[in-house]
Amino acid sequence: MAKIDLAGKPIAITGASSGIGAVTALACAKAGMPVTLAARRTDKLETIKERIESEGGKAIVVRCDVASQDDCDAMVARTIEAFGSIYSVFANAGFGEKHDVLDTSEDLLREMFEINFFGTVHTIRAAAKPMLSARSGHMLICTSCLSALPSAGYSVYSATKSAQHHIGRALGVELASSGIKVTTVHPVRTRTEFFATMQVRQGADQLNVKDRPGQPAERVADAVVKALRKPRPEVWMSQPARVAAQLAAMFPRLTDRVIWKPRR
Ligand SMILES: NC(=O)c1ccc[n+]([C@@H]2O[C@H](COP(=O)([O-])OP(=O)(O)OC[C@H]3O[C@@H](n4cnc5c(N)ncnc54)[C@H](OP(=O)(O)O)[C@@H]3O)[C@@H](O)[C@H]2O)c1
Repeated sequence: MAKIDLAGKPIAITGASSGIGAVTALACAKAGMPVTLAARRTDKLETIKERIESEGGKAIVVRCDVASQDDCDAMVARTIEAFGSIYSVFANAGFGEKHDVLDTSEDLLREMFEINFFGTVHTIRAAAKPMLSARSGHMLICTSCLSALPSAGYSVYSATKSAQHHIGRALGVELASSGIKVTTVHPVRTRTEFFATMQVRQGADQLNVKDRPGQPAERVADAVVKALRKPRPEVWMSQPARVAAQLAAMFPRLTDRVIWKPRR
């Protein structure tokens, strides 16, 4: 299949105010895509917009809380108003916290599903209407390597990522004849604001995020642009993690012993 020319094809990106979303917005703009930058911190979005425009690209800023279907509908409407159409959407907004299952409050459990899972549903529902009319488009969903690797301490976060993966893969099949492609993106640990936000949310007095290993967000952004040019169902950013996920499904007892080493 020939590579898709992305020039002039508009994309809306949620969680574009930092990390993977911000860097992906820059990479998409560099590929010629007009970009809608969506998140709650509009001051940060404005800075990214300025950078895109200074490099000759096109961008607009939309305040969007993905927990709201109305906000996601407005993000898509503003994209069409500004750029004439919407070709792609990257449902990327999300956050995590680290707790054991029984220590996770009901409120946090629901909040994490509200943003990570329902935020994704709201985003793809909003984009589906114009994409179905155009019989063309590409939806990308930022899930995680943990989507297929249940992880002690990150169980609820993993569950939201797994839920995103499941709807993304099912949607891809359901939309196969509609001209709309769907890709789930599975980053491994990435150097973004993610872990600092997590520590702040969990009430840390001092941030301890320096020197943590992790891939640069640019690696994910490049993989997203590559998938936009040549659509595929899944993009995994770590083959060892992917293999570990498959082994975990086949040998759960061994995985629990070797990878997670049960606590006493
Ligand atoms: N970093 C990693 O190691 C890693 C690994 C695997 C997967 N991921 C996934 O990658 C995605 C991006 O995370 P990141 O690593 O780039 O972290 P990040 O730098 O903390 O970015 C998270 C983004 O989500 C946005 N967001 C959070 N809640 C939102 C809401 N209610 N409505 C709209 N936007 C919201 C934030 O913007 P505002 O606060 O301005 O709204 C921010 O732009 C997430 O889905 C995360 O689960 C990350």
